[in-house]
Amino acid sequence: MKNIYSNIFKVNNKNLSKTINYLKKKELVGVPTETVYGLAGNAYSSQSVKKIYLLKKRPYKNPLIVHYYSLKQLKKDVELNDNFFKLYKKFSPGPITFILKKNKNSLLSKMVTANTNTVAVRFPENKILKKILKSLDFPLAIPSANKSSHISPVSAEDVAQEFRGSIKIILNGGLCRIGLESTVVDLTSKPKILRPGLISPAEISKILKIKIKINYNSKIIKAPGMLKRHYSPGIPMKLNQEKAKSNEAFIVFGKKHKKGKNIFNLSYTSSLVEAARNLYKTLRLIKNKNYKMICVCSIPQNGIGLAINDRLNRAAK
Ligand code: TXA
Ligand code: MG
Repeated sequence: MKNIYSNIFKVNNKNLSKTINYLKKKELVGVPTETVYGLAGNAYSSQSVKKIYLLKKRPYKNPLIVHYYSLKQLKKDVELNDNFFKLYKKFSPGPITFILKKNKNSLLSKMVTANTNTVAVRFPENKILKKILKSLDFPLAIPSANKSSHISPVSAEDVAQEFRGSIKIILNGGLCRIGLESTVVDLTSKPKILRPGLISPAEISKILKIKIKINYNSKIIKAPGMLKRHYSPGIPMKLNQEKAKSNEAFIVFGKKHKKGKNIFNLSYTSSLVEAARNLYKTLRLIKNKNYKMICVCSIPQNGIGLAINDRLNRAAK
């Protein structure tokens, strides 16, 4: 069998040009971002976008996030508003996705937005991805580079494991700095948070000077991150556990927990940011070790802990 990691390329000028040419030819590539690795394609091309849905086995009704380099480029596709400008100024480029109304003469493929009149947009901060976006005259549709409902990838090797040779280029940008997907905030009407991330509701409230609504289980938006079961290792999980049997994997947090072969500590120093960075990596490691049950201790419900608990709850469904 061909080595599944042979499509991973280190980042240099030659491989960047190769990646850019691939994207121009409407092919897909695996790219690093500061949150999780993504599967990128031309957001203006239905041919390209269709390949993303097929490869991920993603239902067509679940829209994708469009990644931009500049505001100038974005203005062609969506209607901007005051709340957007406030949050953009503070947090972009970075791990935040804005839902905005689509422009009538937008060039975006209808499939990207699942035929709706709203668009999810993000300005990634990762230097490699920024270089790629800057050299293209179209934005990129980039969902997380995993099969629908699986654990999101945080390294180039994770992407290779998900797609086993069916993506020709995966750029290796090392481990993702944040390790959890961006915060999604709907700005099409009264601002609402649809998916928690590193940027917290409190930080967003402070900038917008309003109490922000949280709507993680919207009945209207059935996008993948909103589906009850998602980010799943495919192994039963028990949350808020104080102990685990020796044949069960035990995910813990903080130094009060003892060490052991089956014990996986997300952060000895009780750092929620570090725990977020380690979460998907740990779930994937446990899956690869063939454990049949995962127990997880309780994780503080503040800051990025909200996002960690959100992902754990969905993974355990
Ligand atoms: O950090 C991230 O956002 C990563 C990296 C690769 O940028 N991308 C990512 O994409 O997480 P994906 O496809 O795995 O998740 C897309 C999420 C959905 O769960 C949904 O919440 C939201 O984006 N979304 C996309 N279009 C939307 C729309 N028109 N209305 C509401 N939500 C939308
Ligand atoms: Mg995803």
